[in-house]
Amino acid sequence: MSVGIWAIECYFPKLYVEQTDLERHDDCVGKYTKGLGLRQMGVCSAYEDTASQALTVTKTLLTKYNIDKTRIGRIDCATESLIDKSKSIKSILMQLFESENTNIEGADNINACYGGTAALFNALSWADSSFNYDDKLALVVASDAAVYDPNGSPGARATGGAGAIAILVGRNAPHITMNPRWRASYSKNVWDFYKPDMSCPFPTVDAPATLTCYMQALDNCCGQLAPATENGSILNTFDYLIFHSPFYKIVEKSFARLYKNEITKSYINKTFDENNNNEWTKAIEKEWMGVARQDFETRVHPSLTFSQRIGNMYTPSIYSSLVSLIANLPDMENPDDTKNVSLFSYGSGLISSIFGITIHNTGQVSDCDDCFSLENLKSNFKQILTRLDQRNKVTPQQFLSQIATERTRHRPKEYSKPSEQQMKETLFSDTYYLSDIDDKFRRTYGLYTETVESGLGDSSSEPKSPECKKHRK
Ligand SMILES: CC(C)(COP(=O)(O)OP(=O)(O)OC[C@H]1O[C@@H](n2cnc3c(N)ncnc32)[C@H](O)[C@@H]1OP(=O)(O)O)[C@@H](O)C(=O)NCCC(=O)NCCS
Repeated sequence: MSVGIWAIECYFPKLYVEQTDLERHDDCVGKYTKGLGLRQMGVCSAYEDTASQALTVTKTLLTKYNIDKTRIGRIDCATESLIDKSKSIKSILMQLFESENTNIEGADNINACYGGTAALFNALSWADSSFNYDDKLALVVASDAAVYDPNGSPGARATGGAGAIAILVGRNAPHITMNPRWRASYSKNVWDFYKPDMSCPFPTVDAPATLTCYMQALDNCCGQLAPATENGSILNTFDYLIFHSPFYKIVEKSFARLYKNEITKSYINKTFDENNNNEWTKAIEKEWMGVARQDFETRVHPSLTFSQRIGNMYTPSIYSSLVSLIANLPDMENPDDTKNVSLFSYGSGLISSIFGITIHNTGQVSDCDDCFSLENLKSNFKQILTRLDQRNKVTPQQFLSQIATERTRHRPKEYSKPSEQQMKETLFSDTYYLSDIDDKFRRTYGLYTETVESGLGDSSSEPKSPECKKHRK
């Protein structure tokens, strides 16, 4: 009875900006592409917010896998782009369930990009526990728009992005299971990135501190995890490695650092402080990036498609990396083959964890629906990747003028419902959008469905999923 992940759905907005255009606009050609490793950045439309993205991704998952809503016993949400200091995203998601099921536990989790992992850990613990006495499923829903001050550092602004993830969690997960021993955490009170001004949607960022804290967290998490792995080696135990990706290059550097730490055994049974970063000079970093490059290409790069083409989605980021990895995973040869994957999750402030999952070629449950097969998960995830090519490009000027209105655009008197044409240009079909904010700040969400084009859950140009029986006990 392994608790694990049954299915995942990933949503990102229809708009993006090219990083080559952005670096030309910011007069730093090469910095965002070569320096940070980015290709494109997802842009949240003016008619979406974190709740609308959460509604879209949840509805798409429920529809695509034909989930009986009465089977959901818990929803744990995560965001760091709050639209309300009190009312949770989870409560808004209940509009998708209320006619069929109001008996659902769970609320929201917050700690920068780590919130999605806090939500996942909560959902897994509940699903595995005696409180889940009637063997229900849990949903983890993470949604964010990563937006930086239009008058602040252009370098930080280029690491924005937007999107949402929904993860279906429960017992007897057929193909993606958790190993309870593969888990280690590191937390500390630091001020590297935070959002202290309640009226401002932009973070306060101490850029060098974010990088130091991230690496410090990585060293400590790996040092804690290593003794539980094969021969004390994370590299020997895990076939693929996923790292939280605020930008592509930090992942390449993280892998190089892990490589050095493993080969020189320098993190085993040690506690790390800021001084360790002094040993990690630019020259050493470059040298180890070279040593690790080939392994990075095969074991890490396949998880980074969304990181390069959407950017940092904040809480959904590492789970979108898992979608990217599984979509790009080479077929396994033998029925008994498995692949172990480590996931390093980092949230400024800071809270971080590393944990491990196993992907099984053959389903662990004998009577499982085909729609939850690894083949079907891969096919669905590949379809999500193809949607990256169906987005509409905006110019750096359009992007900047949109984020210039970020502080005010969702105030009741400023907000106006999009026209049909605006929806067509900025929203995929089957997407929730903000249809109204009344004078008491109450938000209403509508579902935009384009009649001609196919939608997120059922694209006629793409191969159809195997039929899902209603997922019942
Ligand atoms: C990531 C971040 C810290 C970069 O800061 P920055 O001061 O704007 O950028 P840098 O000057 O350090 O340049 C970034 C890289 O591009 C390189 N670069 C700069 N200009 C370049 C150019 N024209 N061509 C090629 N490379 C260039 C730099 O050498 C550097 O690479 P290196 O670190 O390997 O030496 C900034 O984007 C940020 O604050 N992001 C938000 C917070 C974040 O994501 N933190 C990460 C941990 S959570």
